[in-house]
Amino acid sequence: DYSVADLLQGRRAVDSPVTVEGWVRTRRDSKAGMSFLAVSDGSCFAAIQCIAPSELPNYATEVLHAGSGCAVRVSGRLVASPGKGQRFEVLADRVEVLGWVEDPESYPVQPKPHTFEYLRSVAHLRPRTNTFAAVTRVRNCLAQAIHRFLQARGFCWIHTPIITTSDCEGAGEMFRVSTLDLANLPRRADGTVDFAADFFGREAFLTVSGQLNVEAYCLAMSRVYTFGPTFRAENSNTSRHLAEFWMVEPEIAFADLAADASLAEDLLRAIFAAVLDERADDMAFFNDRIAPGCIARLENIVSRPFARLDYTEAIGVLERSGKAFTFPVSWGLDLQSEHERYLAEEYVGGPVVVMNYPKAIKSFYMRLNDDERTVAAMDVLAPGIGEIVGGSQREERLAVLDARMEASGLDREAYGWYRDLRRYGSVPHAGFGLGFERTVSYVTGIANVRDVIPFPRTPGSASF
Ligand code: 4AD
Ligand code: MG
Repeated sequence: DYSVADLLQGRRAVDSPVTVEGWVRTRRDSKAGMSFLAVSDGSCFAAIQCIAPSELPNYATEVLHAGSGCAVRVSGRLVASPGKGQRFEVLADRVEVLGWVEDPESYPVQPKPHTFEYLRSVAHLRPRTNTFAAVTRVRNCLAQAIHRFLQARGFCWIHTPIITTSDCEGAGEMFRVSTLDLANLPRRADGTVDFAADFFGREAFLTVSGQLNVEAYCLAMSRVYTFGPTFRAENSNTSRHLAEFWMVEPEIAFADLAADASLAEDLLRAIFAAVLDERADDMAFFNDRIAPGCIARLENIVSRPFARLDYTEAIGVLERSGKAFTFPVSWGLDLQSEHERYLAEEYVGGPVVVMNYPKAIKSFYMRLNDDERTVAAMDVLAPGIGEIVGGSQREERLAVLDARMEASGLDREAYGWYRDLRRYGSVPHAGFGLGFERTVSYVTGIANVRDVIPFPRTPGSASF
């Protein structure tokens, strides 16, 4: 069993009989009486060239009609390629067309440049394009590298729930999960609909983060992580926001904010190094065609430590920058994307970890610092995209947590289990969330997170 990648990388002997199954990327017919089919099976960036001589019995009837998108099985002999750019090609003695393209003229992904916007409208066919197949392989490589890195450091993967009753970020951006029968809505006495009863008589939502659940496992198993889909009902129509996105959330016990930031840094460096090493073909394509310089940028990051800056210092830097920002800069206000980008792109020229934000703009679970004005939060900001990691040391002191929950208007009862973690063997612990799509976008240089997830969900759009 072998793929096109195996053939092109010389893992089969020259002159051995081979069979290639895949989709025709392009076909070129030469006057000399043969056709060249570039066949891709998605296993690597390159397609393999298959030479179909006119002597094939179905040459005129089929081969000459097998265009872009047709599924084929080509059998023949693997030969060294005299042409530039590929080491091997297939000399075909049989070409079977397994799946025709019904109407070649209107095949939605013609072998020519398409805009990203157009390709979103054919999300089911865009993996046929060079670009999306490359994104998909890089995405897979990054996911594998994340698991490898964490597993090698002794982290246990926890499968946290998707359906939940707690709002981790406290931002009220949760999608409601409903079993309501729309024809028979449960009514309160006053006739209004009782939506609080919509999940088998309870109220439930799609999770915005697995953090609270993973904290419970951290305070028993020390090093844990969750990696799965998360959901945000925020109405943000930007190139960095999705309604459904994947997040990696490690959580470490007996650890403070500095250890948390170091873990984030080590993880990012390790996965960038992995992608440069394992997906050199796809990265060369992004570097040449999508985001010139993206390889050098990653290499640079892999080789040196991230800058670290306190929020308070960051505000000073922004105030002194002389830049005309759209949003105001002042101690106590959250950093907007333009501020994050200035810090990463112009001030540091690389990723920067901003730490210790004002408590009023951060979540209830973040540990209160001794100044009582800031919390032990950290965000990793990356050039071109802004925040890719958001994390913190968690508040492990029950009394302080209770005060913060009260200030955030959270119901003690509902978070009783979370409070228990502070009642029974509480220790300092910390964690973060790495936005997976923002990471893929950063690595590939593809500007919009909608173009690095197979089927993007954004406000008002969940087709496919
Ligand atoms: O900063 P956030 O909201 O942090 C949390 O959810 C914490 N509970 C994580 C933790 O400490 N375990 O989200 C973390 C990251 C962001 O830095 C960003 O990269 C990504 O998730 N993110 C999004 N990505 C795409 N679309 C959205 N709507 C996103 N919201 C957050
Ligand atoms: Mg955040």
